[in-house]
Amino acid sequence: MANTVLVGLQWGDEGKGKIIDVLTEKVDLVVRFQGGNNAGHTVEVGDEKFVLHLIPSGILHEGCQCAIGNGVVVNPLTLHQEIVELEARGFEVAKRLRLSSRAQLVFSYHCIMDGLFESKLGESKIGTTKRGIGPAYADKVNRVGLRASELLDLEGMEHRFRTQAAFYNEIFAEAGVETVDLAAEWGRLKKVAEKLAPMVEDTVVSVNRMARDGRNILFEGAQGMWLDVDYGTYPYVTSSNTTAGAACTGGGLAPSRIDHVVGVAKAYTTRVGEGPFMTELFDGDGERMARIGNEFGATTGRPRRCGWFDAVATRYSAMLNGVDKLAITKLDVLDDFETIKVCTAYELDGKTIGEMPVCTRDYARVKPVYQEVPGWRQPTTAATSWQELPTRCREYLEWLSRLLEAPLDIISVGPRRDQTFFLE
Ligand code: GDP
Ligand code: IMO
Ligand code: MG
Repeated sequence: MANTVLVGLQWGDEGKGKIIDVLTEKVDLVVRFQGGNNAGHTVEVGDEKFVLHLIPSGILHEGCQCAIGNGVVVNPLTLHQEIVELEARGFEVAKRLRLSSRAQLVFSYHCIMDGLFESKLGESKIGTTKRGIGPAYADKVNRVGLRASELLDLEGMEHRFRTQAAFYNEIFAEAGVETVDLAAEWGRLKKVAEKLAPMVEDTVVSVNRMARDGRNILFEGAQGMWLDVDYGTYPYVTSSNTTAGAACTGGGLAPSRIDHVVGVAKAYTTRVGEGPFMTELFDGDGERMARIGNEFGATTGRPRRCGWFDAVATRYSAMLNGVDKLAITKLDVLDDFETIKVCTAYELDGKTIGEMPVCTRDYARVKPVYQEVPGWRQPTTAATSWQELPTRCREYLEWLSRLLEAPLDIISVGPRRDQTFFLE
């Protein structure tokens, strides 16, 4: 297993949480390295369902340690809530979770600002999760953010929190939106800070110690390639680098220590929020994918837009992320389709192109060129090995692997742990 980075290859919600959970059986430490509680990673264990937002999905395996790295933006109130909820369900969290002292903190003023930006954008809004992610990363880059190390110095933290919140309150008052009640908010933060403080440490040291001792470390990506702030469909993206390189800068392990990159892709495509999406379907096929795949956001509950697999976009993702193990999820959702389409090229201004245009306005104008194959029309949900998959289904997967120039490694045929198998 060694040190592995796992990332989403599409627009998020590829089933990363489920694959992380399965891989965690062989892992000693799972590290989140970017994003915040905009993420919603679902893991189903038996009859129980867990949706993790900030805590790494490895927490559901008793022997596994978890860390939230410096690249993550952490809302202390929601992190605390997540810990309380998991502990109420019988998981020991406090002793197994470490929080980087360098991680930026997200406060209610970031969330209000997120909403304010969105309302100012009107029709051009991004469709954010309103979790304050963009404003928190902006504060980090503006060098006015508060880091988790503040949780160890409550007096200093109170001063800095109040100063920064007062600055935002001026903006809110002028814009005519709700302001932050500083006393009430600080009262909540203080209580939570005392509980989180023992988890705060320089995670670079613990991560590297584990690596030196030959332990297996898994870096859990959030969101997906096309939401990356540099490479994604800008400006319809999130505010962090969601690609594999971010595991090093946000997780604290050098590139020379990374052994593998697992890229997770759905057998079709979904997107939640605004922004162009070339293979989006507005017909019965799209509705069918949404219904069978239960495509509703794990964080906001918003319906996800659905479409066919986009091999042009996903090949680029596999290349950029250096994927050497491909995980295809939600294969079962296509079980009943008479025919299945895959976008293998784009057409722009009458010309066929093999890459996604960098300019999002151009991307919004391309037309997908599809190839169509007959579906397998048999249930795959009970398959436990490659051999048990219908021939046409295996051909579909091999085709995707060829198009993406990345080797298949993991197949997922349902939301449960046992509905997953490896191609050894
Ligand atoms: P993540 O953000 O990448 O972790 O993905 P989400 O948890 O937001 O969304 C994936 C959804 O698909 C969750 O509801 C999972 O339980 C579900 N899921 C994961 N893998 C499969 C699969 O192979 N088949 C089906 N039908 N559902 C799956
Ligand atoms: P996981 O980790 C899918 C989308 C939002 C919006 C854009 C910016 O569960 O795959 P933000 O709140 O980050 O500023 O919103 O990014 N988005 C996600 N879409 N899965 C996610 O996470 C997402 N996190 C953010 O819908 O379009
Ligand atoms: Mg999700």
